[in-house]
Amino acid sequence: MDMDLSSYSADDWVEHSVHGSVYHDGIKFSALVVPSSIEAMKTFDVRNDDIWINTYSKSGTHWASEIVHLILNHGNPETIDRTTTQGNIEMIYFQKDSYDEGKTRHLPFYKIIEKAPSPRIVQSHLPVRYLPPGIDSKKAKVIYVARNPKDVITSLDRFVGNTEMGDFIRWQGALKEFMDGTRNYGSWFDHVKTSWNLRHQENRLFVKYEDMKRDPREAVLTISRFLERPLSEETLEKIVEHSSFKGMKKSYDKVEEEGKGDLVKALGKQSYMNKGVVASWKKRFTVSENEEFDRVYQEKMADTDLRFDFE
Ligand code: A3P
Repeated sequence: MDMDLSSYSADDWVEHSVHGSVYHDGIKFSALVVPSSIEAMKTFDVRNDDIWINTYSKSGTHWASEIVHLILNHGNPETIDRTTTQGNIEMIYFQKDSYDEGKTRHLPFYKIIEKAPSPRIVQSHLPVRYLPPGIDSKKAKVIYVARNPKDVITSLDRFVGNTEMGDFIRWQGALKEFMDGTRNYGSWFDHVKTSWNLRHQENRLFVKYEDMKRDPREAVLTISRFLERPLSEETLEKIVEHSSFKGMKKSYDKVEEEGKGDLVKALGKQSYMNKGVVASWKKRFTVSENEEFDRVYQEKMADTDLRFDFE
């Protein structure tokens, strides 16, 4: 989506290279993440009607965002303004041309969110401890989406595989980092377990990708109840249809046709709409990789009752 950036002064832009890795607090982050933006989250002005979508990457972020957008837009994808969900709050405002040209001055995406009208839908992959404290003091709503980790890493590999980022995130290295907890955004295990432990707070909802897949209608209902936005039967039907993989692909294709592709294709190449199924990991993992993964998984998930469906 083309944004009017004229209201931002030179002071709003930051010096940041998107080529290479970013480290903050001893954790590696995607190169699109700006360390000063993570710092800025400590004092970020949360609004009580904000709706935050928090995920580890490739876990269904855009799917959950689309459901929320559709709920706020009475099931009509045409009226959705996706400005605040075309990026994650901790990243730069992504412009394909500046990325391709290796430009080093970028507008942090949180500055766009700061000026957005309410209610804002805000996406973040940040682990809970880096999210603004205002989320809890203002009782903003947080939807956390978790997905079985084998599909997460498989999806991620497909997503970054053809990009420059793919060079340093190739499959075996990525798998090892994922198991070690040294991949971008830190340990997936800590990420999901922390939010699982907070799931009973009234401003938090924990949903699983596989449950959304199994019963999309129930998923929409659960989210609408959580947001205290009751739906008529007719609107519910519309939301289920437009947030299905097919429905969303149609909406995203349309956005792209209209020349607003940076929103739906990260790095201008990889679509957020890929396969949209459970268990695509089976075509990616070798038998021994799977055995090793299961061993690590058992060990790291021994202290939680959080369970995932892998089939
Ligand atoms: P796959 O790569 O396995 O297909 P994120 O939005 O967090 O980046 O997650 C992207 C993943 O969610 C991709 O997974 C994508 O296809 C899937 N996805 C997006 N919309 C979906 C939908 N409506 N239904 C099912 N899966 C969806």
